[in-house]
Amino acid sequence: MELEEERIKEEIRKRYGEIATFKGSCCGPSPSCCGAPMGSGGLGYSPGDLSSAPPESDLALGCGNPVALAHLEEGEVVVDLGSGGGLDCFLAAERVGEEGLVIGVDMTPEMISRARRTAEEYGFKNVEFRLEEIENLPVADGSADVIISNCVVNLSTRKQRVFEEAFRVLKPGGRLILSDVVLYEELPPEIRRDMELYTGCVAGASLLGDYLKMMEGAGFVDVKVVEEKPIPWDLLSPGSCCGDGEVDREVAAQIKALAASVTITARKPT
Ligand SMILES: C[S@@+](CC[C@H](N)C(=O)[O-])C[C@H]1O[C@@H](n2cnc3c(N)ncnc32)[C@H](O)[C@@H]1O
Repeated sequence: MELEEERIKEEIRKRYGEIATFKGSCCGPSPSCCGAPMGSGGLGYSPGDLSSAPPESDLALGCGNPVALAHLEEGEVVVDLGSGGGLDCFLAAERVGEEGLVIGVDMTPEMISRARRTAEEYGFKNVEFRLEEIENLPVADGSADVIISNCVVNLSTRKQRVFEEAFRVLKPGGRLILSDVVLYEELPPEIRRDMELYTGCVAGASLLGDYLKMMEGAGFVDVKVVEEKPIPWDLLSPGSCCGDGEVDREVAAQIKALAASVTITARKPT
């Protein structure tokens, strides 16, 4: 039996709620951190990027660096799907400047509280965090120039709906830049049904071909994979993607062979 939607959402909120409220360093060996144990330095961010964002926003939960490929301009409106601690929102906020706006959307209350606290503490006036599911974006039709997302769409059981929502809120000609985990081949059923691997951004991933078709099905054009690399976590390391390091060696090798981290760009037609 596949993992059902509500149970999955509950587990996602639980896992990411714990990460958001974890008092130690999320870049050290915390029991429930997803992502790279060394912080986002291992995930495609330059030291310059990381030094310009509030350290509290970097929970090392991404799998790429969508802002680096977004070509953001002053005054643009950006929406970040599954904004987590807000790292990409704060990086985007610097690029769009005071005339621009960045809206982070996340369904985990603790993540939203943490990101709001960071925004306030560091005086960001052009960033807002909204508590909602990315399947129902709390953003008006045709109001965003750019949508970014980092390691989140794989967690949705309704990816087609997510792409339709992204399409709805973008202005004509608007850009979509997604970093995410995708599959080259189907995962074995025992991995697909593993809740910890699901909330750890592996088991819910789609085949790359299906993912691109869903984007095109929502109306996007110029859909291109612009970056492709092995998933950036050491699955065997405690504190890395999938929990306490109990992923066995064989399963970790299977995942490494079948899954990848990609960044995909696309555009809403004018
Ligand atoms: C792996 S983390 C990535 C966080 C952030 N994008 C980053 O790169 O640091 C996934 C985030 O997506 C959020 N999330 C997962 N599924 C979601 C959904 N359906 N709607 C809204 N947020 C979701 C989780 O609460 C979590 O904060």
